[in-house]
Amino acid sequence: MTDPLLDISDLSVEFGPKTNPIRILHGVDLTVGQGEAVGLVGESGSGKSLTSLATMRLLPAAARIASGRIMLDGRDLLSLPDKAMPNVRGRDISMIFQEPMSSLNPVMTIEAQISEAIMLHQNKSKAERRARVLEILRLVGIPDPEARLGAYPHQFSGGMRQRVMIAIAIACNPRLLIADEPTTALDVTIQAQVLDLLRDVREETGTAVLLISHDLGVVAEVCDRVVVMYSGHVVENAGVETLFSDPQHPYTQGLLRAVPSLDGQEKRLYQIPGSVPPPGTIKAGCPFAPRCEMRMAVCERQMPALTIRGDGHQAACWATEDLASAPAKQLKAMEGTS
Ligand SMILES: Nc1ncnc2c1ncn2[C@@H]1O[C@H](COP(=O)(O)OP(=O)(O)OP(=O)(O)O)[C@@H](O)[C@H]1O
Ligand SMILES: [Mg+2]
Repeated sequence: MTDPLLDISDLSVEFGPKTNPIRILHGVDLTVGQGEAVGLVGESGSGKSLTSLATMRLLPAAARIASGRIMLDGRDLLSLPDKAMPNVRGRDISMIFQEPMSSLNPVMTIEAQISEAIMLHQNKSKAERRARVLEILRLVGIPDPEARLGAYPHQFSGGMRQRVMIAIAIACNPRLLIADEPTTALDVTIQAQVLDLLRDVREETGTAVLLISHDLGVVAEVCDRVVVMYSGHVVENAGVETLFSDPQHPYTQGLLRAVPSLDGQEKRLYQIPGSVPPPGTIKAGCPFAPRCEMRMAVCERQMPALTIRGDGHQAACWATEDLASAPAKQLKAMEGTS
């Protein structure tokens, strides 16, 4: 097997004073293969955005990396000098944010903004740049792109602006496209169109995708594999089909019950009882335990490790652990608690 394109291992991020830090990410492991589309899913506050910001080396100033390694195509991103990062951003990894209006420049034409992205990373003549801008606008489905080159962001609808954002992100053929809740601000019809577009872009360009969403339904539309996060921990990792047919973590099971059924039957949407604990409030054990119907005594004492549940399938849960294959360390922790 070839090495993954993105390989995040044991990533921990903290806020606050060093003497009394609040840990937000707890040993996150996440890989994205070459050309693979991976979904990163979890409720608000689970650490999805911080994971992607750490990858781009764009963490807020108050945050620091307490441990971990982030490799992109064999290069250690965390040890690159700061001045090397602008080249990585945009050329190797591109990011699409949730709110296109705040990420687009209101006083620059669409052509200028896409052109600028190309200029930063590729040596092209003006005519070559224009040809590339038109090519990308066509790829992202902007109708009559020649006529829209001189338009400003406010002259586009929300869905069209999101297409422009995607155009800027793919202008330099990034190896990895990170899309953080790219459809949350859009209505359902436009959301479906943007997801179709992400799928098309991936097929046309072969770029790998990390799609962040709180919605498993969204992720299933685009991704091959899903990583589920809860409260700064990766709790499950599986192929999309496996995740939907055989979820191993009670949290994933809860998220799945909250996905609206596609048969159009109006069911009352399930919500997992309780809410994500504020960072730093869970001192020991599994952070999902207070909300978990399958909770056992050990869950409140010790966080389970991710263990293998099948081919390419891992989950971190004491209750669904196959004890026959559990590591000795885990069995010891469980002693006398069932
Ligand atoms: N600048 C900051 N200072 C302190 N805590 C922060 C800061 N930024 C984020 N956090 C905390 O880190 C945790 C994870 O935040 P993150 O933005 O990664 O969540 P998320 O999974 O992307 O959520 P959402 O779905 O709402 O976007 C949250 O509990 C948040 O309160
Ligand atoms: Mg976020």
